[in-house]
Amino acid sequence: MKIAIGCDHGGYELKLEVLKHLKERGIEFIDFGCNDTSSVDYPTYAKEVTSAVVSKEAELGILICGTGLGMSMAANKVEGIRAALCHDAFSAAATKEHNNANVLCMGGRIIGPGLANLIVDKFIDTPFSNDERHIRRLSMFDSSMAQ
Ligand code: RB5
Repeated sequence: MKIAIGCDHGGYELKLEVLKHLKERGIEFIDFGCNDTSSVDYPTYAKEVTSAVVSKEAELGILICGTGLGMSMAANKVEGIRAALCHDAFSAAATKEHNNANVLCMGGRIIGPGLANLIVDKFIDTPFSNDERHIRRLSMFDSSMAQ
């Protein structure tokens, strides 16, 4: 399991906490930046992380900006990406189980590290159900699920 992770300045502090958590869990990651709190443009990092997921360099992605909103909008423009903005653990599990989400988005100005890392754990540890009805629904909007 390898995670591609990226943030903008609004998500930088929370990303540090998530990286610490991933290290503690022994989960490999590729950190695409940014690397401090200087103002940057979130689509740059959404592009890097989603490219790594689409190319299968990483199995899952995590994107963190101030709200998670811009990152999720940018990520979902990329073919093959199913990005989910989650600020609760139930949604993080459900979006893996039902939507086979491959990118988790969170807002560093919305939640703290305790909840964020619980969300990350649910997202990583919950498998896709592989249920026929969910595959059918996903293939209705995502051609990468239609094979
Ligand atoms: C940056 O100030 C902020 O707009 C960004 O982090 C994010 O919240 C956008 O959706």
